[in-house]
Amino acid sequence: MLNFESEDNMSSFHLDIRPDGVAVLTFDLPGEKVNKLTTPVMDELDRLLDEIAANREIRALVVRSGKPEGFIAGADIAEIRDITDGPRGEELSRRGQAVIQKLEALPIPTVAAVHGACLGGGLELALACSHRVVSSDPRTALGLPEVKIGIIPGFGGTQRLPRLVGLTNALEMILPGKSVHANKAKKIGLADEVTHRETLLDVAIAIAHSATGAPRPRRMRAKRPVLTRLLESTPVTRSLIYRSAMSRVLAETRGNYPAPVAALEAVRYGLSHGLAAGYRNEARVLGSLIPSGISKNLIHVFYLSESLKRDPSPPVLKVSRAGVIGAGVMGGGIAQLFAEKGIAVRMRDITPQAVSAGLKAADELFRKRTRKGLLDRIQARDGMDRVSGTSDWSGFTGADIAVEAVVENMEVKQAVLREFEHAARETAIFASNTSSLSITALATASNRPERVVGMHFFNPVEKMPLVEVVRGKQTSPETVAVVATLSRLLGKLPVVVNDGPGFLVNRILMPYLGEALRMLEEGSRIEEIDHALLNFGMPMGAFILLDEIGIDIAHKVSGILREGLGERITASPLLEKLYQNNFYGKKNGRGFYLYLHGKRGGASPLVYHMLPKREKNEGWIPEQEIVERAVFLMIKEAALCLEEKIIDRPDQLDAALIFGIGFPPFRGGLLRYADTLGAKYIVERLDAYAAKYGGRFSPPASLSEMSRDDLISQIVR
Ligand code: NAI
Repeated sequence: MLNFESEDNMSSFHLDIRPDGVAVLTFDLPGEKVNKLTTPVMDELDRLLDEIAANREIRALVVRSGKPEGFIAGADIAEIRDITDGPRGEELSRRGQAVIQKLEALPIPTVAAVHGACLGGGLELALACSHRVVSSDPRTALGLPEVKIGIIPGFGGTQRLPRLVGLTNALEMILPGKSVHANKAKKIGLADEVTHRETLLDVAIAIAHSATGAPRPRRMRAKRPVLTRLLESTPVTRSLIYRSAMSRVLAETRGNYPAPVAALEAVRYGLSHGLAAGYRNEARVLGSLIPSGISKNLIHVFYLSESLKRDPSPPVLKVSRAGVIGAGVMGGGIAQLFAEKGIAVRMRDITPQAVSAGLKAADELFRKRTRKGLLDRIQARDGMDRVSGTSDWSGFTGADIAVEAVVENMEVKQAVLREFEHAARETAIFASNTSSLSITALATASNRPERVVGMHFFNPVEKMPLVEVVRGKQTSPETVAVVATLSRLLGKLPVVVNDGPGFLVNRILMPYLGEALRMLEEGSRIEEIDHALLNFGMPMGAFILLDEIGIDIAHKVSGILREGLGERITASPLLEKLYQNNFYGKKNGRGFYLYLHGKRGGASPLVYHMLPKREKNEGWIPEQEIVERAVFLMIKEAALCLEEKIIDRPDQLDAALIFGIGFPPFRGGLLRYADTLGAKYIVERLDAYAAKYGGRFSPPASLSEMSRDDLISQIVR
């Protein structure tokens, strides 16, 4: 067997030529957990491809990864981040395209053997191979997620994918940046074979053998429904597909994200002007997007999430057994999460019926995740085997930690804490999922307050990435570290905050929701306000959110915050009235919107009946004012949180709002957004609103100080 490696031992590729003439190219980027297509890597690959092309002994090529967990994660995001001009962006794309075309042009069968993440440039490389075999592992995911960082695939992906899997399938992947798992990849013709991870290389070699001497397979092997095939077959019918894809993109992004629109255009251009023009255009479009502020913001958000995933100092205690107290909406989701990640979990509630409801909820989540291909059946079964339930405290002695998710009531929580400490061992941590009660106050009921901490998940647990780790006055650094590390293990992003009313996220959210209520009371309309906030980029309007959270919960939390923070968390007479009239939001079908079988309809006329009668257009508020009043109050509250040291780092505050309430990622974060406006402008507007609407808008000291010199970036630095 021959072995090729470049002279320097920092080479990223290793080429084995087997006696049967099949060469196995293994990509293993030194010093990195995942493979990335950096410029030096592309240069090395370029040279190797020349060698392979010139080597007559090689009859087929298998490309695989040397990393245990992934194929290729994509191009190097740091390089993309640092490019600030279009021509350099275009050049990066053309260079990548050229190397990948060289792989495609090899006159021998080429087989990509894919296990784990095969994303962006990684999939574009695999697309240039004549065959792809993928592992059945649920971690195997193939996709072109470039739009998520505000750009489009630039190594030929917008051209090759639609030609391989068909236009509709390709757009479904490229426009939202969505990956597919093994079975779907096979179904749409993206993968030729699915096999077990252990047999991946053998199957790839077998495919390489059988393809030797055979003609290169024709593209487009997707088994598409007849109607799709017909629609995709002519320029006229294809334009229908483009039009409907475009309207879907615009409805979802409200024009805030240019990349999916550009990607659609790149696909369309290539299919109507041919491959060569398609590649040239792809590079041009990529070049125009790379330097944009939106792409830089999205990359900033990507790095924020990466930084939260990293563990600064792994704690001594490793959680292997957990308890969840309270098997309701949150408890069921939290228990399922523990079990999925390999931690045995015991759920406690007060009645067997409640426990059984919690177990059912966990089971349903496992089923849902299996249906989505995120778990296989065995993983789901093993996961569910890790969940057990009880209506007493049996089985809690072994728990390293318990997450408490009982009703939001201090007396009940303190009683539960005492009972837990009685049942559990001394070292066990008590982590409360309270959304508004003070951790320091809760801990006064504890014999070991250093082990009492907040672990605030967001609803739905399965979807929301953030966990606020709340440090009470006496919480020990080790306890905080255990909970932060545990959150990461659960696949969540932990942000550590200090105790205070509403902690960080709800504290900043509440003035925003309160202002939406105020504007409604002044005469603006439910849909107008929601529309303005959606246009700004929020994932849902304020009133949809209030209905989702529950008007009763919002009423309770705003009361707690007002008690702690004073009148800038304004009391809303409307909220009070709605609450008194049993309007609880979506859960009982009585909210700001009408609900039929859980489905949302238009705004509820009943809400307007609770407001003073107004003439048409009386109290109308322009869109810019709606956004500024709601969002600037968040900026004000964020500045106060920094002043009061609820959190130290502005970038982590930004991350908490993006991953906790979906603050628009394309704006890079609340404070980063504030920076783009400048402190001077914000303070001027706050002053103007304060003069018109009252003291809740008065700018806080730190913002006023910055505005004197208009030191943009001061907040985030
Ligand atoms: P829920 O009402 O759905 O569930 C509470 C469960 O606790 C019920 O099953 C109840 O029987 C049980 N329970 C009551 N007393 C108990 C006791 N002494 N021992 C054991 N179980 C007991 O409530 P949900 O929505 O799950 O909320 C739970 C906690 O999570 C609250 O503190 C809430 O503030 C917090 N939270 C809720 C969020 C949400 O959106 N629902 C979001 C984030 C936090």
